Amino acid sequence: MSASPTSASPPGPIVTRLRDAGCVFAEDEARLLISAARTPAGLAAMVEQRAAGHPLEHVIGWAEFCGLRLAVEPGVFIPRRRTEFLVRQATALARRAAGPARTGNAGPARNRDASPARPRAVVVLDLCCGSGAVGAALAAAVDRVELHAADIDPAAVRCAQRNVAPAGGQVYQGDLYAPLPGRLRGRIDILAANVPYVPTGAVGLLPPEARVHEPRVALDGGVDGLDVLRRVAAAAPQWLAPGGHLLFETSEDQAPQAVETVAHRGLVPRVARSSALNTTVVIGTRPSRGPRPPAAP
Ligand SMILES: C[S@@+](CC[C@H](N)C(=O)[O-])C[C@H]1O[C@@H](n2cnc3c(N)ncnc32)[C@H](O)[C@@H]1O
Repeated sequence: MSASPTSASPPGPIVTRLRDAGCVFAEDEARLLISAARTPAGLAAMVEQRAAGHPLEHVIGWAEFCGLRLAVEPGVFIPRRRTEFLVRQATALARRAAGPARTGNAGPARNRDASPARPRAVVVLDLCCGSGAVGAALAAAVDRVELHAADIDPAAVRCAQRNVAPAGGQVYQGDLYAPLPGRLRGRIDILAANVPYVPTGAVGLLPPEARVHEPRVALDGGVDGLDVLRRVAAAAPQWLAPGGHLLFETSEDQAPQAVETVAHRGLVPRVARSSALNTTVVIGTRPSRGPRPPAAP
């Protein structure tokens, strides 16, 4: 290859080809394509794919998310920058669930231990996991995580398996909770579900990179965008541990209805908003005491 990945200025013809195709960050993209290509012929093919409108992440095979480089195959939802806010909220709650790192030298002398005890493993489910970005980022941020992830789409499951393997995560394929092992019932501390939430009528308005290159099942949330969320919330109380949290993204407009949905299932709702990332996260917490909230009818 004639240009190295660190070239200060990538070859003009590549930049021109990308710019002519409408890539705003043509120079940066050219550098990434050069660093990802194994041969000059491979590079030429990648430049053409990108010029034809394929998302950059699908062309180079990875996306950056929460400082991690995650595998993203063609046909799999590309993790969005705004979802880092959901990860931040989930990380804070997971660290609280783990409890303070015990020093190991408190209590009666016979129980004392010089080595600090580690916090307990936090049970995380990344539901509707796509590439597994949310679960992988949580596992990277929290000291000890027992990670599970699930998605209905086989391509997403394949991709997630690659991304959560370093954290020892398990990935299941199927409709929402259906493929999960029964032993997870009532044990999940953090249930992060970045469900599809685009209203059906708005899917056609999405940019082509999403509308054409990401699967409809990853985007379309039904007439008001909340169909999948309603199903997730309905069964969440059965899977959450006492004090466990369900977290999901919505649009700002959808948030009031999403809050009602969560409250209706006996979870205590809260809304977190990031204006910097222009995103809203709804959190529903299963009360720590009292009977399990009612199951879905
Ligand atoms: C918006 S994408 C989010 C992917 C990933 N969590 C992320 O943030 O990058 C939604 C994902 O939900 C999955 N999905 C949609 N309906 C589902 C269902 N009924 N059961 C399981 N997964 C589903 C899609 O395949 C897609 O990967």
